[in-house]
Amino acid sequence: MADTRSKGQDSLSEGGILSGCRIIVGVSGGIAAYKTPMLVRRLREAGAEVQAVMTANARQFVTATTLQAVSGRPVRDSLWDAAAEAAMGHIELARWADLIVIAPTTADTLSRLAAGRADDLLSTLRLASRAPVLLAPAMNNVMWDHPATRRNLRRLTEDGCTILGPDSGPQACGETGPGRMQEPEALFAAVRDCCLSIPSWGSLATPVRSTPHLDGLRGKKFLITAGPTREAIDPVRYISNESSGKQGYALASAALRVGGEVTLISGPVNIAPPVGAKTISVTTAQQMNDAVQAQLPATDIFIGVAAVADYRPAEKKDQKIKKLPGGEKGLRLLLVENPDIIAGVSSSQNRPFVVGFAAETQDALRNAREKRKRKGMDMIVVNDVANPDIGFNSEENAVAVIWHGGEEKLPQSSKAQLAEWIIDRIATCYVDQLAPANPESVAE
Ligand code: C5P
Repeated sequence: MADTRSKGQDSLSEGGILSGCRIIVGVSGGIAAYKTPMLVRRLREAGAEVQAVMTANARQFVTATTLQAVSGRPVRDSLWDAAAEAAMGHIELARWADLIVIAPTTADTLSRLAAGRADDLLSTLRLASRAPVLLAPAMNNVMWDHPATRRNLRRLTEDGCTILGPDSGPQACGETGPGRMQEPEALFAAVRDCCLSIPSWGSLATPVRSTPHLDGLRGKKFLITAGPTREAIDPVRYISNESSGKQGYALASAALRVGGEVTLISGPVNIAPPVGAKTISVTTAQQMNDAVQAQLPATDIFIGVAAVADYRPAEKKDQKIKKLPGGEKGLRLLLVENPDIIAGVSSSQNRPFVVGFAAETQDALRNAREKRKRKGMDMIVVNDVANPDIGFNSEENAVAVIWHGGEEKLPQSSKAQLAEWIIDRIATCYVDQLAPANPESVAE
């Protein structure tokens, strides 16, 4: 098929990072479909051309009018729509797509895709296309855990599909557990990263993330910690925190987009690692520290985003701790200090450029300035977690960036957007030689 891509067709799609990328957004029939228009909108804002394709059941949850309005194209939903087929047949549409994302992918759609069915438009497009397929499952947690669903997921992964999520949490059915569709912003980031890694499309993409100072990060080795740590009390209990890993994963994506080589050391989270990052999963602060130390010799830029537990129980009991009789006395738990990972990196020989994060509930800026110096960081990013709408576990954040000789407040934005700005500021400082080779960066 002749390539008739046109960039910047309208105001929504002008000049974005996905300019000209052609994406089929499939929608199957689950309650999470009410969020899919947000994903479509984000893709369009980034410049992608989006064709929405609904299954028959999807119409129970979201209207074609909504999807048409946000995608700027009539929605396709049938193999037997003569007018639509005459304009662009389904095989042509399958060839048109650079990428197919199905959000939500219900248990039934997973099963039909795993079986290789082609009895409606969406399943047929998937079979008739060589484009990467991203699936964002959404279903009740018991359905998600069912062996049949596990089997379907295994088969789809073997067939080359990428599974995004799902998240864990409260569900529309009133239960709590894994099976929530990832939030539109997280899906957008995964789709965008996948698009940018497609060579046939990548060559047509606008190289948005390339300016002289960002070029200084190309090929640099990033080591990023993300998520919480868990410190075991006994076989079933642990100390942890609310960190979702979203900001660290967004930074890993942003570092990949400027051409960095990224190793992500992650505590337990419910989100998919960015395509292209080497991901090492850990549980405890000690394991995170060991993994960081092992990777350190090959690191140019270290970004410590993880919410590392400062303390761990002095011992992990082999057996579940029983409730004490006459409970008023309470239970004493002795905690011992964990290694400070970032301080260890800052004080290492041939240290990389070191960026830390700080979550503060009071005097955020003053505390962060002091922390940057105390821990020997080149840059610190501080967020005020006293505001419940931003920071831990939310989609948005508002931060200030502090480095040697400068400070900047970044406005409340998505974590993906903030990650791009932070990488931008790192590039400036790194290129300006505030890096380790320059003693000025630490001699304060
Ligand atoms: O002192 P505070 O925990 O607020 O410092 C936060 C920064 O230090 C984050 O960048 C976090 O990843 C890092 N940190 C660490 N090791 C610890 C505690 C925090 O690397 N044990």
